[in-house]
Amino acid sequence: MLKIGMIGAGFVAGFHERALCSVRGVELSGVCAPEGAEALAKRSLKDGLGNTKVYDDVADICNAVDVVCIFAPNYARLEIMRNIAKAVENGAEIKGIICEKPMARNLQEADVMARMAKALHIPNAYFENQLHMPCVVEARNQLSAVEKSMGAVHLSRSAEEHGGPHEPWFWDPTRQGGGVCCDMGCHSIAVGMYTLTPSGKAPDYLTPVSITANMALLKWGKEPWISKLKERGVDYTQTPAEDYSNVTIEFKDPESGIRSISQATNSWMYDAPGLRLLMEAFGPGYSYTVNSLESPAGMFISDAAAAAVADSELALEKAQATRGALILQPNEPDLYGYVTEWRDAISAFEQGKDAMLNFEYGRMITMLVMAAYMAHEKKATIDLTDSEVLQELESYVPLIQQGKGAEILFSG
Ligand SMILES: NC(=O)c1ccc[n+]([C@@H]2O[C@H](COP(=O)([O-])OP(=O)(O)OC[C@H]3O[C@@H](n4cnc5c(N)ncnc54)[C@H](O)[C@@H]3O)[C@@H](O)[C@H]2O)c1
Repeated sequence: MLKIGMIGAGFVAGFHERALCSVRGVELSGVCAPEGAEALAKRSLKDGLGNTKVYDDVADICNAVDVVCIFAPNYARLEIMRNIAKAVENGAEIKGIICEKPMARNLQEADVMARMAKALHIPNAYFENQLHMPCVVEARNQLSAVEKSMGAVHLSRSAEEHGGPHEPWFWDPTRQGGGVCCDMGCHSIAVGMYTLTPSGKAPDYLTPVSITANMALLKWGKEPWISKLKERGVDYTQTPAEDYSNVTIEFKDPESGIRSISQATNSWMYDAPGLRLLMEAFGPGYSYTVNSLESPAGMFISDAAAAAVADSELALEKAQATRGALILQPNEPDLYGYVTEWRDAISAFEQGKDAMLNFEYGRMITMLVMAAYMAHEKKATIDLTDSEVLQELESYVPLIQQGKGAEILFSG
């Protein structure tokens, strides 16, 4: 039994606790967080995930578990990683370190995360659930023979959209790293690249050639939305971030030289039933589509009965309505790939190896996200084969992340 310890006990940790109910050979032994730890530990005990205890600091939880997970906000990553490293230096025996997406707010931070993980010689996993979505995995499996005879996917479209994040820190570009492109573009860029990757090749196989991006503040900079954010302590008159992002990346197959393109679209203004993940892949003579809002299950709640719905988000992530015709996804941890990413990480750690996606991969995705911000800022196509550009990206911090988004984002 591998003992899991979660640092952070908020929204995503809750999803992972649900996912662990479908993973064998693990117990959730510890939780450590300023808020939510007691409640998560209680739920884990109720779900039979082990004798889950609450720990006050990172050193204590590292001494008690085999696998430690960074599920805390983006601005807390580096400090937590440093504390894990200290605990290991002081004798904690860790068999695996997991970090949720995004790897970091910028490339400088991502470099530190990846270098520290390497220096510790501890197997690691970058949690990017969308590459593990059973729909994506199965479509790729089913089509692998067709792909071998016809050629690889040449165009991918990926999107993650919802009505806006649940906690104020996500909206603050200085703490989160940006707006929707840093928060959700990292998912769509990663899964878009994977969709183009020939089966049997590593997720970082393709060579990024160039990137263009268009970002804007379309909804949340306008009234009444800007005032609604202010009520939650987020001031988009001073430090706005993008609520819309569209990133196009050109890739090259390093063996055949064949070019392909991915389009990643993300928004925080999806005023629709709830979170939607969309993937489309077009190959020569074949294609596939994934739409997370298509479900065989639905519900209807009349106006007369609406008061009876306590928490619509239990039926669908980021649900925006509590009445009418509602979509029901009964097993979101499985649908979104959380269960599969856990199985992959646990099996890798048991063999002393990195998971399918490691911190180095997370660093590469951060590079693409930073390049997208740079393309938007410079209103130019960024050449990702130019060594000077790659050097510039190493220390680049987007204006939006610096809190200067007002200089480049428009709003009504
Ligand atoms: N894979 C996905 O689809 C997905 C979905 C949601 C969030 N995430 C990622 O997960 C991370 C957490 O997001 P969330 O939605 O759970 O946030 P959240 O705000 O809901 O929860 C954050 C948790 O971390 C704790 N925390 C805050 N500072 C801490 C610190 N210094 N040390 C330890 N714990 C600390 C908080 O008390 C809270 O328990 C983010 O990086 C986010 O990008 C990923």
